[in-house]
Amino acid sequence: MEPDQHLILTGFMGSGKSSVGRELAALLQRPFIDLDEYIEQQVGLSIAELFSQKGEPAFRRLEQQYLEKIMTTSSVPLVLATGGGTIISKKNRDLLHHHGYIVFLNACEKTIMQRTLASRARPLLLAEGSENIGQRQFRRQKIKDLLDERRPFYECCQLSISTDNLSVHQIAARIIQQLR
Ligand code: S3P
Repeated sequence: MEPDQHLILTGFMGSGKSSVGRELAALLQRPFIDLDEYIEQQVGLSIAELFSQKGEPAFRRLEQQYLEKIMTTSSVPLVLATGGGTIISKKNRDLLHHHGYIVFLNACEKTIMQRTLASRARPLLLAEGSENIGQRQFRRQKIKDLLDERRPFYECCQLSISTDNLSVHQIAARIIQQLR
């Protein structure tokens, strides 16, 4: 990674991008931005509210707009945690590759299931109106389908780290070790 490049974290929901990003930023003494939190602050709505009130296409437009703003206006190199779907758009991918060094936090389906189980904040993983048993099955299938679809985009990165069974600190330490 070049010293002036942003360090970008990508990976599926629940892969640890936000918590690892915070830890990395502290260790590297860089500012940290979580793209979802940034959007929430700018718009004044949570991601779940944005999806339910304005729909996913509106969320994707905001995601692109704010990603572009962050990538092109930050005067210092950042650690940036993207959302799990940020890298799917070609324009976002070009921005990320142009301005940053991209690290993919890889996690298997079982780990993602466990890490996202308690979350109501991820609209793509919620089956509206179904019972608990239906929720679980819906979530498992959705994770599988989205992972199949997205894996090629995640894998187009400079560094890939397997995060299963590792703590936030261990993952951050591995990334730093690989950067040296
Ligand atoms: C999304 C992932 C979420 C958030 C939104 C859409 C996705 O971020 O951006 O719910 O498409 O995978 P996290 O990966 O931080 O959960």
